[in-house]
Amino acid sequence: MPDKLWYITTPIYYVNGRPHIGSALTTVCCDVLARWHRMRGERAWLLTGTDEQATKVVEAAEKAGVPPLEFVNGLAADFETTWRALHVAYDDFIRTTEPRHIEVVQEIFRRLRDSGNVYKDLYEGWYCVADETFFRDTDVVIQGEQRLCPNPECGRPLQRVQEENWFFRLSAFGDRLLAHIETNPEFLQPEFRRNEVVSFIQQGLRDMSITRSNTGWGIPVPDDPGKVIYVWFDALINYLAATGWPNDQKRYEELWPADVHLMGKEIYVRFHATLWPAMLMALGLPLPKTVYAHGWWVDAEGKKSGKRTGGLPHPIEFAQEIADQSGAPLEIAVDALRYLLLREMQFHGDSEYTQENFLNRYNTDLANDLGNLTNRAVNMVSRYFDGVLPQAGRVEEEIAALARQTAADFEIALTEFRFNAALESAWRLVGRLNRYIEERKPWAQAKAGDTAELAVTLTTCLEAIRVVATLVAPVMPVAAEALWTQIGLDTTVETARWSDASDWGQIQAGTQVPPPTPLFPRIQPRTDKETKPVTEQNAAEQPAEQPTEQPSYITIDDFMKVELRVGNIVAAERLANSDKLLKLTVEIGGAERTVLAGIAEMYTPEEVTGKQVVVVANLAPRKMRGVESQGMLLAADVEGQAILLQPETQVPTGSRVR
Ligand code: MSP
Repeated sequence: MPDKLWYITTPIYYVNGRPHIGSALTTVCCDVLARWHRMRGERAWLLTGTDEQATKVVEAAEKAGVPPLEFVNGLAADFETTWRALHVAYDDFIRTTEPRHIEVVQEIFRRLRDSGNVYKDLYEGWYCVADETFFRDTDVVIQGEQRLCPNPECGRPLQRVQEENWFFRLSAFGDRLLAHIETNPEFLQPEFRRNEVVSFIQQGLRDMSITRSNTGWGIPVPDDPGKVIYVWFDALINYLAATGWPNDQKRYEELWPADVHLMGKEIYVRFHATLWPAMLMALGLPLPKTVYAHGWWVDAEGKKSGKRTGGLPHPIEFAQEIADQSGAPLEIAVDALRYLLLREMQFHGDSEYTQENFLNRYNTDLANDLGNLTNRAVNMVSRYFDGVLPQAGRVEEEIAALARQTAADFEIALTEFRFNAALESAWRLVGRLNRYIEERKPWAQAKAGDTAELAVTLTTCLEAIRVVATLVAPVMPVAAEALWTQIGLDTTVETARWSDASDWGQIQAGTQVPPPTPLFPRIQPRTDKETKPVTEQNAAEQPAEQPTEQPSYITIDDFMKVELRVGNIVAAERLANSDKLLKLTVEIGGAERTVLAGIAEMYTPEEVTGKQVVVVANLAPRKMRGVESQGMLLAADVEGQAILLQPETQVPTGSRVR
């Protein structure tokens, strides 16, 4: 028997609209799990795809005025491009209009008909096109003459359907399903959803109509071309069709049963946790090992956000927005979005989506916590050791133990699909390291000439960054690689194994650490209007020609009010009881003045003495820590660190800058 691959699937997405951060959430979660298994040395296989035979897909094509095939081709390509751009390393992409899928659906229909699990009968009832679901008379909502979909998220008018149809004998599988659920606790997750499924089945399963009359779209029923197969019966089969069953036995055995089917909760109870396992039982095939449902992105009222309600942005457009606002390359912004999707969603339940929350989280977790840690640590290796990591004489045991614990917590959380908890644990380590820097005051260690302890501080920081990069590699593959390069590792993060995360002490003395480049530049706050990403909904609302937003200009006269002058720093000292401030004596055109500058974390007094700088000379004097500061230096703000601006060549002091 061939070695089994670790096989995970996303739902296949309806091609009646573009991908958004709802479908992206499921897809990224699956990708993270597949990447994680690969890092553990397993062969993982990720399947995704598109669901194209649905009535609502044809309706969307008609609405768009595009022939259905052309319409689905365009959207399927959109999904593929979007997932690739979102760094989703899928192994197979299945479309339900492909012959390999259609043939298997028809084969399964034939087999079930031959075994008596599918039979013909008269169907009379209601059909919801939006939900692609049949309902009995007793299930529907009555409103005057109208019958409405009982799904509270939908509530649309139903179609009356009365026709001879093929039925699947679902009622025969209730007891077997319950027995399987009982003996396989890992089958349906999370646990509270398993309970929902159990009560759904215990209420009694009815046979299910699995065909509709053929209106020119859908998979024809074998030997009954007037009918097409119900889209859910067809769609679920994609997971099996992609394995090559029943012809490619070798491939089938490598893949089936699936290890994980992951999806949103709306398609869990009826379809993935009941109908699909019953179909597999009827075929005599093994059931998937785990079927897991996550919650939704909801609005402030707790309603599902999506295409119907508007408001969920396209993932790449959102990433582009992050890139534009922060100045990060798109590849890094894409990884940032992957992090934000996983960090903001409470997987077991629903989570409110707002763009503001996402952008705030970007600034706090990525720009501040991880970005600053990396920038500070790497910068200090450049500054104090010319970019060559020194030999540390001892291991910082407390941090090493925390890192090992973090790796263990991260792993347990991933096993339980608690992606947010996994990331939270990694960020506890990041937070501890930022505090560690504050406690250890490497600038003071440098000043005191304590190279031995300074080496311990910086090695500990770089080692912890290596651990964090390893842990987040499945979530942010490109950013993890950038972190890897930042700390001077000459391998790639792709070669890292998962076990390396708990193996403290891999960074070697002598490692050449390049000067830092900010990985996640901060997003500067802007007005709500400016930050709103283009969703399908609001794209339609917007006129093609956008009136350009008026930036708030100042006049040249306003600018001229600021008196900028070149000065020479003639003396510098640390300010007692401040880690941040240096007290400088700056000579400007023959006059000396005292300037307090928040650059102590980046520069020692010795380093700045003798430097030419640009000073705001007419700033009102201000007392800080008992000392009057008579001006301000200009500096570039790089993730909260000040880098001094200097004239390109030496110029007379007091020269005006404009
Ligand atoms: N075609 C079916 C699935 C067939 S699988 C055999 C379908 N497609 S869908 O396009 O509607 O995608 C549903 C999936 O999108 C959900 O499982 C969920 O993963 C995701 N989401 C759509 N809207 C969402 C939110 N608002 N929040 C989170 N995920 C959501 O159903």
